[in-house]
Amino acid sequence: MKPADLAIINCSHLVTCQGPIPKRKDSLLDIGLVDKGCIASYRGKIVFIGEEKKFNKEILLEKKGVHIDGSGLVGLPGFVDSHTHLPFAGNREEEFILRLKGYTYQQLAERGLGIQTTVNATRQASMDELTSLCLARLDNMLLHGTTTAEAKSGYGLNLKDEIKQLRTLQELNKIHPIDIVPTFMGAHEVPKEYKARKDDYINLLIHKILPEVKENNLAEFFDVYCEEGVYSVEESRKLIRAAREAGLKIKIHADEFAPLGGAQLAAEEGAISADHLIAITDEGIKKLAESSTTATLLPGVSFFLMQEKKAPARKLIEQGAIVALATDFNPGSSMTESMFFIMQLAVFSLKMGIEEAINATTSNAAYALGKHKEVGSLEVGKKMDLILCDAPNYPHLIYHFGINPIKYVIKGGHVVVKNGKVLQKSKYQTD
Ligand code: NIG
Ligand code: FE
Repeated sequence: MKPADLAIINCSHLVTCQGPIPKRKDSLLDIGLVDKGCIASYRGKIVFIGEEKKFNKEILLEKKGVHIDGSGLVGLPGFVDSHTHLPFAGNREEEFILRLKGYTYQQLAERGLGIQTTVNATRQASMDELTSLCLARLDNMLLHGTTTAEAKSGYGLNLKDEIKQLRTLQELNKIHPIDIVPTFMGAHEVPKEYKARKDDYINLLIHKILPEVKENNLAEFFDVYCEEGVYSVEESRKLIRAAREAGLKIKIHADEFAPLGGAQLAAEEGAISADHLIAITDEGIKKLAESSTTATLLPGVSFFLMQEKKAPARKLIEQGAIVALATDFNPGSSMTESMFFIMQLAVFSLKMGIEEAINATTSNAAYALGKHKEVGSLEVGKKMDLILCDAPNYPHLIYHFGINPIKYVIKGGHVVVKNGKVLQKSKYQTD
């Protein structure tokens, strides 16, 4: 008999998302469903998945172990939110109201609103202020089932404030149960003081900020906003190569509004992911489909910016691209921490299947962070990051929209959310 310190018995559906990862085409439909599933973990790692009979034969729950009756609950891997702009100060309701009156996101950015507004507020904020803002957001994420989240800098746009954002993430990762994957995104915009001399800013990024980020081990990824009026394909390529040279993995904000060819750039440069892709061309789709770069779709943006144009999820899946979904949580173009809402948008508006949306927020999302060997699916040996939802079956998670169905969140084998409350605010050691 194997020991366990946590066991969940008889889930109405246990969605494991097992299988070869990444998932493309039809394998995106495979969610590794176990009917009446039981799952157990020991010291943070999954030790058993299967039916009750087998569980009774193989697993011995410790006396002090936690036992959860899974009846009426659907279990699935904790969500991996692979694209967020978590550390920012200030909100942008004023800009939102102008957008509701008909101004576009780009028109407002040209008038100095947009990202620059958040840069101003974030530069003003102390690390303590930023930390407490982020803690509240991380709690929101956890309450909505996210157990691993990527988080980008990019609202500092100078040495001091980019480092401040990344140091904040480093501190948060020590204290909050959510595992944070930090991304350096000093190339999120061209700061106002460098508007007339972009090359100087690119040099500052490459020769000053990047080495500092690397030396202090503050980021795993580098990201660039490859977009008309921001960084061109060739500028982005230059930045990407410098970042790769410094040992960072690459993500690209690609083809969000203008079809510049960010997707092709991502495939050519071996980026881990190309994100957004609302304006991707057929050529870009082909290049991504042939590559191992994940196409990360962020349907919160088309929704929040009230755009007709949406990322071509069906074409990407049919042609064989690795598709993931993320919130893009940020104050300007997608103000939500909810991965359920993102899955619902993916199904209702990008026409993704329910199973595809589940894999895109779990297994493939973990792949988009290079973390698929640890998280993103429920398999023996992986981290016990699991959510239990009040639902009779898994399609119900999309069907019953606009509510939060979470009953429990388990992080590294510990119950961190129960009945709508964050129980545990500190990090558990799982290794
Ligand atoms: O992913 N497009 C660039 N960056 C964000 C928006 C950031 C902001 O508006 O503050 C995005 O959409
Ligand atoms: Fe983004």
